[in-house]
Amino acid sequence: MVCLGNICRSPLAHGVLQKLANEAGLNWEIDSAGTGNWHIGEAPDIRSVRIAQKFGVDISQQKARQFHRNDFDYYDAIFVMDRNNLRDVMDMAKTEDQRAKVSLFLFDSEVPDPYYDNKLFEPIFRTIEARCIELIEELKT
Ligand code: 4NP
Repeated sequence: MVCLGNICRSPLAHGVLQKLANEAGLNWEIDSAGTGNWHIGEAPDIRSVRIAQKFGVDISQQKARQFHRNDFDYYDAIFVMDRNNLRDVMDMAKTEDQRAKVSLFLFDSEVPDPYYDNKLFEPIFRTIEARCIELIEELKT
């Protein structure tokens, strides 16, 4: 799961999908990363931690990291939150196989950046959770 800072959106997608996968008995390794380097090593934004907590997901132990080229080969699928993330990640890809692993998390729309808008955290959580439920179904076979 990839966004810009790896402190607001992708930590939510990471935490929610990991929880749903665990509950479904799927042995999936989920992770998240940012295309930017500003927040490396930081815990998620407190607004994301709180909204996740409200819906029963603990993301407080996550640590931000930057997306790395090695991620293309280590992970089977890479989901990006918006089209800027898509461009930045695609620019790092070296092969067609790597590019083929990358898609928008919401398929044809974006998860908006909530960093400057506190009101976005709850709707974003709900959107991310709904999409993660779909992803479990889509990817488990
Ligand atoms: P995220 O949100 O990409 O969902 O983690 C942001 C976090 C930090 C910044 C921008 C977006 N920032 O500019 O520091």
